Amino acid sequence: MSVTFDFKGKNFVVVGASSGIGRQTALELSHSGANVLAIGRNLERLAELKRNSPVSLVKRPPKIFTEQLDVLTATAEDWVEVLSNFTSTVGRINGGVYTAGIWGLTPLNSFDESLAHKIFDTSFWGAVKFLKTATRKKFSDGGASFVLMSSVAGEFSGKSLFAYSAAKAAVQAAVKSFAAEIVRGGHRINSVAPALVKTEMMKNEMYAAAASEEIISRHLLGLGTAEDVAGMILFLLSERASWITGQNFFVDGGYMLGVRS
Ligand SMILES: NC(=O)c1ccc[n+]([C@@H]2O[C@H](COP(=O)([O-])OP(=O)(O)OC[C@H]3O[C@@H](n4cnc5c(N)ncnc54)[C@H](OP(=O)(O)O)[C@@H]3O)[C@@H](O)[C@H]2O)c1
Repeated sequence: MSVTFDFKGKNFVVVGASSGIGRQTALELSHSGANVLAIGRNLERLAELKRNSPVSLVKRPPKIFTEQLDVLTATAEDWVEVLSNFTSTVGRINGGVYTAGIWGLTPLNSFDESLAHKIFDTSFWGAVKFLKTATRKKFSDGGASFVLMSSVAGEFSGKSLFAYSAAKAAVQAAVKSFAAEIVRGGHRINSVAPALVKTEMMKNEMYAAAASEEIISRHLLGLGTAEDVAGMILFLLSERASWITGQNFFVDGGYMLGVRS
C-alpha cells in the first residue's frame, strides 16, 4: 500500500534533516513536489541528501536546499538568515518539521549537567527558537503546519532518562500552548512520539544497550523505520489534517500497549 501526498508548489523546512526521521521526511516531501530547506550540522550528509533531490523535467523542479546550523548555538539572527535565504528563493513556507534531537543517559547520582542541558536544549529550546522565527508572517504563509518530535519516553521514562524524557514531555505540553497562539495566523502544530526507530540514534552504544530484548519485544509490530514515522509527519503537514492541532500522536508499533499489558 502506498499513500502519496501532493505537495507541489509547497515549501517546507526540516530541522535535523541530515539523518534518520528528518532525512526521510525531507526526501519524501521533495519527492511529493515540495521545495525543502534541509537543516543540520553534518555537511557531508546534507550534501548526500541533496544528491537524492528528485530531478524533474518541469520548469522549476522541486529542490532540496541545505543550510548548516547547530541548533545549540544558533542565534535569532541565524534563524532569520537561513529562513530568509530559503523564502527569498522559493516564497513563504507552508510548514516545518523539527526533528533535531540527541539521546543520552544522565543518572541522577552522577549527574552530567552539560549533557542534560544539551539533550533538553536540542529537543526543546531549539524547537522553540525555530518556531518563534518560522511562524512570523514574513516567513510563513497563512495555514502553515508544524510538527515537533516527542517520544514515548515523554510518557514512559526509565532509569537515567530524565533529561530526554522531560524534553520530550515538554514538547508535548508546549505544542498545546503554541497551537492556541499560532492559530492567529491560521497555523497548526502537532507532535509525533515514536517508540524505537531504527536510525543513527539507535547506533548510540548506550541506546543500543538500553534497547533490551524485553523492550524490543514490547513493540507488537517490531521496531519502527524512519518511513513509518515520516508517513505520520507528512499526513500532519497535509491538508487532510487541516482540522488537527495541538495534539500528540504516538507512532509506536504497539509499544505502549505492550508496556501496559
Ligand atoms: N530513533 C528513535 O528510536 C527515536 C524514538 C523516539 C523519538 N525520536 C526522536 O526523533 C527525532 C529524530 O531522531 P532520529 O532517530 O532520526 O535520530 P538521528 O538519525 O540521530 O538524527 C538526529 C538529527 O538531529 C540533528 N541534530 C542533532 N543535534 C543537532 C544540533 N545541535 N544542531 C542541528 N541538528 C542537530 C542531527 O544532525 P547532524 O547529524 O547533522 O548533527 C540529525 O539530523 C529526535 O528528536 C529523537 O529524539 C527518535
